Amino acid sequence: MTGQHLPASTLSGLLGDWSDASGPAYRSLAERLRLLIADGRITPGARLPSERELTEALGVSRTTVASAYRELRDRGYLTSRRGSGSVTALPSKVEPELGRHHAPGIDMEGLYDFTCAASPAVPGISTAVGQALEDLPLHLATPGYHPQGLPALREEIAASYAARGLPTSADQIIVTAGALAATSIAIRAMTQIGDRVLTESPTHPNSVDAIRRSGCRVVAAPMSPGGWDLPLLEATIRQTAPRAAWLVVDFQNPTGWLMSATDRQRLAVAFARSRTTAIIDETLFELSLDGQELPPPFASFDPAGVITVGSVSKSFWGGLRIGWLRAPESLVARILDARASLDLGAPVLEQLVVCGLLRNRSSILPERRAGLALRRDALAAGLRAALPDWRFDLPGGGLSLWCELPEPVGSSLVGVAQRNGVLLVAGSRFSPDGGLEKFIRLPYTLEPDTLRDAVQRLAHSYHQIAAGPGVRRTAAMIA
Ligand SMILES: Cc1ncc(COP(=O)(O)O)c(C=O)c1O
Repeated sequence: MTGQHLPASTLSGLLGDWSDASGPAYRSLAERLRLLIADGRITPGARLPSERELTEALGVSRTTVASAYRELRDRGYLTSRRGSGSVTALPSKVEPELGRHHAPGIDMEGLYDFTCAASPAVPGISTAVGQALEDLPLHLATPGYHPQGLPALREEIAASYAARGLPTSADQIIVTAGALAATSIAIRAMTQIGDRVLTESPTHPNSVDAIRRSGCRVVAAPMSPGGWDLPLLEATIRQTAPRAAWLVVDFQNPTGWLMSATDRQRLAVAFARSRTTAIIDETLFELSLDGQELPPPFASFDPAGVITVGSVSKSFWGGLRIGWLRAPESLVARILDARASLDLGAPVLEQLVVCGLLRNRSSILPERRAGLALRRDALAAGLRAALPDWRFDLPGGGLSLWCELPEPVGSSLVGVAQRNGVLLVAGSRFSPDGGLEKFIRLPYTLEPDTLRDAVQRLAHSYHQIAAGPGVRRTAAMIA
């Protein structure tokens, strides 16, 4: 929508059911518009409809629209140019946008934070850091550049794939600064500007941003209520022949689904047929919470064609910023070449720490999983009691519940909940194409007691909205 006139009917559709009962109507309208601009669903430079056009399209008073536009102008999200109406902008000091950068700049004191699906560090980290410091002097005598990663860490990661039945040599591993960096590097290596990349919808938004910022066009295949819709995925692959696909098949973020071995096999065949490079993000793979047996790694169904992304961010700690790529040997040089203009390797000390953690993973991870299972169950029980008409499937792993609300009020809930001390990311942020207004992702990474309190505030926020004019209007229409 850059530089384009946004018709009132289109904007009305994007706004959805924006009104809530928690304050003046103009403020709800301004907040929803701000969210759309800050989220990138309306890009800076788009010309909004005139106050009169929007007043008519929304069926509200002219004062509501005029006041909302004034508030956005005051906050730097709109500029008014003579002859060209109200044009969207991003303020020079951008207000922190939840879910995009894990809320930098927000004072989190007294707030319940559901924006970040990541846990604090596992207890074994301090020991691993101590051990790494002992090993460090050996490395201090070298320049410390390891564009492919420390050999010892690559050995350790390769062994973990071999233990899962996927023979892997250390030469196939490239250590990166986390999974997101790994995805960016793989996309850079395997695509050119304008190429299509298949993703799920909903999915991890920062990775979609990374794919788009590499100049690729995202083709998003909707997840079905029961997981992946294989016929739809196969048809999409046939029809669009994407150059690459980026999928999260282990406890998918945000839905928590785990792809079966049969579906992995079918998709691997479809990708091979259309010469699509599958980039499979296994960031959440270690977080199986009910002890179920996991299917073989996706790459074992096409070892010569699949690139795998891994990370310790969710299993050990995001602050380590260590992830990796596992690639077919034939692609390693190309990937290293693509990486060279981004960075020249991950930090040595953190790689040493991760080496130690991986060696001890069998004693560290059970506690991590047990803690998360407790939190998941506390959140689920709290929601069932306080918000019984919210629907979710209890995931067997991962970090979040993907909740379907009875009404499409996700973005309104973000605003109202924030005023009640609960930070959320709207479900629409997880959709590469917008929509999903009926959904909210709730990570279960806070302490069980904190989760219970947070759910009470969430329920209070939801009931404020459910009592509001927007929802009543929808109900009347249905009747
Ligand atoms: C599927 C997925 N990929 C990548 C990331 C980012 O991982 P990292 O912190 O290792 O960059 C996340 C974090 O939520 C994720 O869920």
